[in-house]
Amino acid sequence: MSLLDRITALEEEIARAEARTAHEVERFRVAMLGRQGAVTELFDAFRELPPEEKRALGQRLNQLKRAAQERVDTWKARADAADAAATPTVDLSAPAATTLPGGLHPITIVRDRIVDIFTRMGYTVSQGPEVEDDHHNFSALNFPPDHPARDMQDTFFVADPDGRTAAGLALRTHTSSVQVRVMEAGAPPFRTVSPGRVYRNEAISARAHCMFHQVEALYVDRGVTFAELKGTLQHFVHALFGPDVAVRLRPSYFPFTEPSAEVDMSCTICAGKGCAVCKHTGWLEIMGCGMVDPAVLSNCGIDPGEYSGFALGMGIERVAQLLYRVPDLRLYWENDVRFLEQFAAAHLRG
Ligand code: DAH
Repeated sequence: MSLLDRITALEEEIARAEARTAHEVERFRVAMLGRQGAVTELFDAFRELPPEEKRALGQRLNQLKRAAQERVDTWKARADAADAAATPTVDLSAPAATTLPGGLHPITIVRDRIVDIFTRMGYTVSQGPEVEDDHHNFSALNFPPDHPARDMQDTFFVADPDGRTAAGLALRTHTSSVQVRVMEAGAPPFRTVSPGRVYRNEAISARAHCMFHQVEALYVDRGVTFAELKGTLQHFVHALFGPDVAVRLRPSYFPFTEPSAEVDMSCTICAGKGCAVCKHTGWLEIMGCGMVDPAVLSNCGIDPGEYSGFALGMGIERVAQLLYRVPDLRLYWENDVRFLEQFAAAHLRG
């Protein structure tokens, strides 16, 4: 075959050739333009020709080489573009997406801490219903029939479908109702804490809400004394607020305890010197307590001649307010992230 025929045949082959992937393009390039490629071989043969023939074929041969190179360049650009489209690009300068860490609600954090202090003293955790009957919420706890706490002002009564008040059902006004349930269901000794929601018909303000949380504690056994109540209170307050906080008891009245007391602790803000938070008394009230009234023990089927006990009850919102200096009770319910995120890591700090 003459060199001219070989050039013509190769021109056709190059025009017909197709390569998609980078690998195919490279194979074509080597087959044509490589050291032993078809085009390179024609140049080798060309070099052997007499000068007059060289003149005629030189241009064709150069065109052939250019055509092969152009095909390689076009396919290569196309294959590179396809590769780039298939590979996701990473913008290393883009700002990182921030995810707010979840956190426990301050009421949950404080409830868990309170319960934890008591369970470490051997208390169990008990619960009762939020819709409670008159017996567990009032009667068994020695509330006289005309006690103001039973009044419509304070209690949310549950209405029946006719809109009339259902037989004695109400939203519990305190977690003391769980004391009665625990004592009725078992036999002493009892050592239990009852955290939960309670409801009172109060106007919502910075200082009051119609729904809040309490923790009740009850200890009943043979020979339980007021001194043990005081020791328990002191241990509790120190565990929660630190060892420097002073505790004092003030005589008070609750229908279900006798004697009864309010528990105050020295103001954590002014260290007892007097400030606006403690209303310049140096003391903050944190809970009510007392020796379980013998009538309550009897009402629950426990012989007050054999057993005695103490009980205490506190509001979790109040304790959280003193721990975290929360100025307004409504903040607990508004779910404002600016408030909640301040507690996001509080349970890690302990
Ligand atoms: N139940 C009372 C209240 O809601 C709190 C309380 C006071 C509970 C004295 C007690 C107690 O167990 O002994 O205000």
